[in-house]
Amino acid sequence: MAGRRTAAGILVAGMLALAGPAPAATLAISCGAVGQELEQCRTGAEAWARQTGNAVKVVSTPNSATERLALYQQILAARSPDIDVLQIDVIWPGILAPHLRDLTPTLGGEAAGHFPALVANDTVGGKLVALPWFMDAGLLYYRTDLLQKYGVAVPETWADLTAAAARIQAAERAAGHNGVWGYVWQGRAYEGLTCNALEWIASHGGGTVVDGAGKVTVDNPAAVRALETARGWVDTISPPGVLTYAEEEARGLFQSGRAVFMRNWPYAWSLAQGADSSVKGKVGVAALPRGPDGRPAAALGGQHLAVSKYSAHPALAMDLVRHLTGRAEQKRRALEASFNPTRPDLYDDREVAAANPFMASLRATFQAATPRPSTITGARYNRVSQEFFTTVSLVLGGGGADPALEALAARLNRIKRRGW
Ligand code: GLC
Repeated sequence: MAGRRTAAGILVAGMLALAGPAPAATLAISCGAVGQELEQCRTGAEAWARQTGNAVKVVSTPNSATERLALYQQILAARSPDIDVLQIDVIWPGILAPHLRDLTPTLGGEAAGHFPALVANDTVGGKLVALPWFMDAGLLYYRTDLLQKYGVAVPETWADLTAAAARIQAAERAAGHNGVWGYVWQGRAYEGLTCNALEWIASHGGGTVVDGAGKVTVDNPAAVRALETARGWVDTISPPGVLTYAEEEARGLFQSGRAVFMRNWPYAWSLAQGADSSVKGKVGVAALPRGPDGRPAAALGGQHLAVSKYSAHPALAMDLVRHLTGRAEQKRRALEASFNPTRPDLYDDREVAAANPFMASLRATFQAATPRPSTITGARYNRVSQEFFTTVSLVLGGGGADPALEALAARLNRIKRRGW
């Protein structure tokens, strides 16, 4: 009898296992850590884990896109199963595609809900290698109280910005606020400088370094003027330390009330409005200025989610991507941390617009954001960007823009001859 009961018990347990949830797995997701990125990633991933009976491990990665890419390349070249879901930059699909799973069969249906240009960005050789998670565009943050105090309008040209920043900086210092600077941005030699410099050049009518057909266009007079303008800011309206600033250093200065203007991504909005921000309620957001004959340009940034080919849990990893890139989670992130959705319908959502007025007022800026030349240069993009930001960095440090851009064009053309 005892033997029979045991056998029946085993049978019942087996049936329960078949009917019940899949055995719990632990999924690792790598996230950035700029501003609230890491905690927001964890909140979203843990909600999925609770719903599905799995566990998640959130892996923090370097803040610098340049350093993060180097880490990913190491992990993926080693075919490591340590990370299942990767937060990848909008500029990386062409570089990382060989290591990423094709999401088309499982998540292809999701693509229709996102901006088509972002889905196209994530489609490499006919394979959907990532889904868009949040969208970035370079924005001009300004101090509404200071502009009002000095009767200064929101600048529309770089010349307006330079004049306004200089004037307010001088007046504030004369009033005893010695630490105030006019304009902070990202001047460190890394991917963020590529974004800033692309904006300066494109908004002067100087193109996008490499054009859509793959032609190197960076050596032109408008680009020279753009870089000379930016060089003129260093140690006048921008602190000398701006040459070491990434996003968070610029935000630190602005949020503590020591800068009139700042160039940054949308994430800085909700932090500037946070309870511990010195500038809460005193911040406006506008499109970045333009050059004398140009139009405003905002670099297109953003982060997408991909599944590693070496993941031991591909089905679960894709389900986690589905959850995080889904409408409800994107809305939650927009409300709590001002991450711009990649889903057009969320721009019509009243709560999203109320929490982030700039998402509605600058809708055109997001839709017309200027992509870096990552699709056309594909796997070579990182080399192209490194050459570009290294050159810009030399110019900002005092080098001549004209010869520097001529030499850069020659180097880019050499890279091009090896194929892009
Ligand atoms: C942000 C953007 C990303 C860009 C990076 C540069 O993370 O989302 O696209 O490459 O900033 O610092």
